[in-house]
Amino acid sequence: MEKSKAKFIIDGKEFEYPLIEGTENERAIDISTLRSDTGCITLDYGYMNTGACTSAITYLDGENGVLRYRGYPVEELAEKLEFVSVAYLLVNGKIPNNSERKEWSRLLNKHSIIHEDMRHFFYRYPEHAHPMAILSAMVVSLSAFYPELSQHRPEEPEEQLDIAAARLISMLRTIAAFSYKKSIGEPFVYPQHSLKYCENFLNMMFSSPVIPYEIKPEITKALNVLLILHADHEQNCSTSAVRLVGSARVNLYASVAAGICALWGPLHGGANQMVIEMLEEMRAKGISAKEVIEKAKSRDTAFRLYGFGHRVYKSYDPRAKVIKKVCDDVLKVLNINDPLLEIAKKLEEAALCDEFFIERNLYPNVDFYSGIIYRAIGIPKEMFTVLFALGRLPGWIAQWKEAREDCSFKIQRPRQIYVGPQNRHV
Ligand code: ACO
Repeated sequence: MEKSKAKFIIDGKEFEYPLIEGTENERAIDISTLRSDTGCITLDYGYMNTGACTSAITYLDGENGVLRYRGYPVEELAEKLEFVSVAYLLVNGKIPNNSERKEWSRLLNKHSIIHEDMRHFFYRYPEHAHPMAILSAMVVSLSAFYPELSQHRPEEPEEQLDIAAARLISMLRTIAAFSYKKSIGEPFVYPQHSLKYCENFLNMMFSSPVIPYEIKPEITKALNVLLILHADHEQNCSTSAVRLVGSARVNLYASVAAGICALWGPLHGGANQMVIEMLEEMRAKGISAKEVIEKAKSRDTAFRLYGFGHRVYKSYDPRAKVIKKVCDDVLKVLNINDPLLEIAKKLEEAALCDEFFIERNLYPNVDFYSGIIYRAIGIPKEMFTVLFALGRLPGWIAQWKEAREDCSFKIQRPRQIYVGPQNRHV
């Protein structure tokens, strides 16, 4: 809804642009006609102030630490629902009723096994291949195996998209577990229809032909919570990658593969692995919290305090609050005394009273404590970002779908200000 106008004065000439307001009173200046009106573009490094779309999926208020999916607070969803219901909510806009939940589970079960030919791909990767490299390649390969659903065309029947969404959500879990089994040289464990989503994943990861995996409800609950907390986060780097690639009308699998690649970076989802590596190094070399903080503040190195800071949260990340609690609970239930947890808590405490971190509103983010839970469950650090991808997948699908259905849909193509040499000749 249009409320009032913003006025620009360029070279003494006035131009008016509508102010757009969202349902939570967020405001934007709609500058869609700025270039044709004025000949100017906006320059906004890192898109600090740029809205690329309107969206009805996730609401995030970084100043007040609020995160809601489709209007529901994430803390409530984590407490009361399972990950697959939250995935349905994100993709379809509503919490499934009993029959919708049953149909969703049927689809997830039906599409849980990857094409047999894809299984052979795993054997061709070098021993130490990072699982995120395998994951992205496997996901883009789905478009070769399931091409009938791969055209990003608005006329595609809704039902086909439901199948593509269910296939991705179900198969990503199988691919993730298979890549782990390959890395440790154990045979693949197939998904079972009798097991729920998270149980199935844990069973595929940790069952072996000689020792069956004992499913502990506390662990399944913790995994459900972690995946829910990661399920969407509006226009972050990987989601923007999915939307940008999807805007060329590329298929869902290829768009999601782009999101997986973006997520891998240490400034984004890859931070969870970096946090554990940082804590391990502190422990192994006896480095103090103060020393790490000084290094993170220094301008002489690219090192950062991983798991701290966020583009949009300028208060405590609400997901980190829940995760910190789950972390304490899981370690207690499993009777694990992880020395890294103590180091992490000391590091958090020291950073939160440091002027540099206070001035810049740097708080722990979702990645700070998640790795300690994954470790307790038995997941190796190279797989942490894979777990993040598993959680974020429903958000990527929902955002891709929303962009595709948007009537103001356009290929995403930013502009630039050229600063290279002027015309010259060889
Ligand atoms: N350690 C040390 N300094 C930091 C950190 C950090 N973790 N985060 C931000 N800063 C400092 C920057 O050096 C900068 O200082 P300056 O103003 O003196 O130049 C200031 O705080 C602002 O930081 P920017 O990098 O400009 O903020 P931006 O919004 O661009 O970056 C980011 C956000 C990338 C998350 C950053 O905080 C960071 O690198 N954090 C560590 C990596 C991390 O944990 N990433 C996961 C984020 S959550 C997620 O993606 C799932």
